[in-house]
Amino acid sequence: MKVALIGLGSVGRGVAEMLAKKDDLGLVLTGIADSKSAFMDPDGIDITRVLAKKKKTGSCGDQHLSAADVIKKADYDALVEVTPTNALSGEPAIGHIKAALNRKKHVVTSNKGPIALAGKELRAMAKKKGVSLRYEATVAGAIPVMHTLEHGLAGNEILALYGVLNGTCNFILTRMAAEGLTYEQALMEAREMGYAEADPTYDVQGIDAAIKLVILANTIWDNGVKLADVDRTGIDLLTPDALRLADEMGCTIRLIAEANPKKRLLRVSPRILDKNHPLVFEGTLNALTLETDMAKQITLIGRGAGSVETASAIIGDLLYIRDRYVQRA
Ligand SMILES: NC(=O)c1ccc[n+]([C@@H]2O[C@H](COP(=O)([O-])OP(=O)(O)OC[C@H]3O[C@@H](n4cnc5c(N)ncnc54)[C@H](OP(=O)(O)O)[C@@H]3O)[C@@H](O)[C@H]2O)c1
Repeated sequence: MKVALIGLGSVGRGVAEMLAKKDDLGLVLTGIADSKSAFMDPDGIDITRVLAKKKKTGSCGDQHLSAADVIKKADYDALVEVTPTNALSGEPAIGHIKAALNRKKHVVTSNKGPIALAGKELRAMAKKKGVSLRYEATVAGAIPVMHTLEHGLAGNEILALYGVLNGTCNFILTRMAAEGLTYEQALMEAREMGYAEADPTYDVQGIDAAIKLVILANTIWDNGVKLADVDRTGIDLLTPDALRLADEMGCTIRLIAEANPKKRLLRVSPRILDKNHPLVFEGTLNALTLETDMAKQITLIGRGAGSVETASAIIGDLLYIRDRYVQRA
């Protein structure tokens, strides 16, 4: 199956490296683009060369070509869209995804913006065009949440869900509890470790977790919820005293995203949890508990971010498309 890749940052590089390393998967890269350049080869790109060029010059290809050229002209079956998330406009990803769907190309993305803002429209468009739109990597990185919902829990009614969907917040809360650090000290440590962005607003105010909650709720219940519907409190106002008091009760505090349509609950907030609760773990991991009618409670835990970890979810989606659509064609 031929693949075009838009975005060659942390995730795009992970995908490209894994496509080069795992050449037995039968996934051939025929188009690639970053913000400044692009490159196409219908017979398969020399990935090692392109990655070396990107590292050396900052561009992956020809500066006269763009992502739009790859999406509109390259020879590919599936587009991988991994440009930065814009939670307000969803662009440039929405435009990229629509252009690929219009060409009847399958799309895989890790970009939360287009799915949270226009997921319903994009899913309908994909269905109309007879292709697949998959976005496993948008929620909880490497954890196969969507595959579990679609396959492992097929036939189950999902009653409710709750989870730790932001590793940066989990790291900060872990460090505040373990060392009695202030929020500012723990945030500085998270920055030094490369876990927090220069502007941590999306993470610490619960926006990132809320976007993932919206994606999950709309995927499971198709209830048309938006970011503004999420009752959201971040961790940026938490004091070491709050964590110390929780500790005295044998508990700790975690940023929990939770949804229960029957209770009209859609919330991201710091919650006091018993230290033995399955959602209490250290560091940057993510976890999600699904409450279902038949399987009852299932908790998935794993890496919520990372270059190769996120590539794992993207390659899983690509192989699903290859097996379901492309090999049969
Ligand atoms: N990092 C993770 O662990 C992780 C996990 C799950 C989901 N995600 C999501 O995955 C997406 C990619 O994340 P990332 O960490 O790889 O981001 P990143 O490191 O910022 O890389 C973004 C890439 O997109 C390129 N780009 C920006 N605007 C573009 C445009 N208009 N056309 C073509 N390319 C464009 C950039 O080009 P230049 O190289 O030229 O700047 C860069 O290569 C984001 O939506 C993010 O939220 C990330």
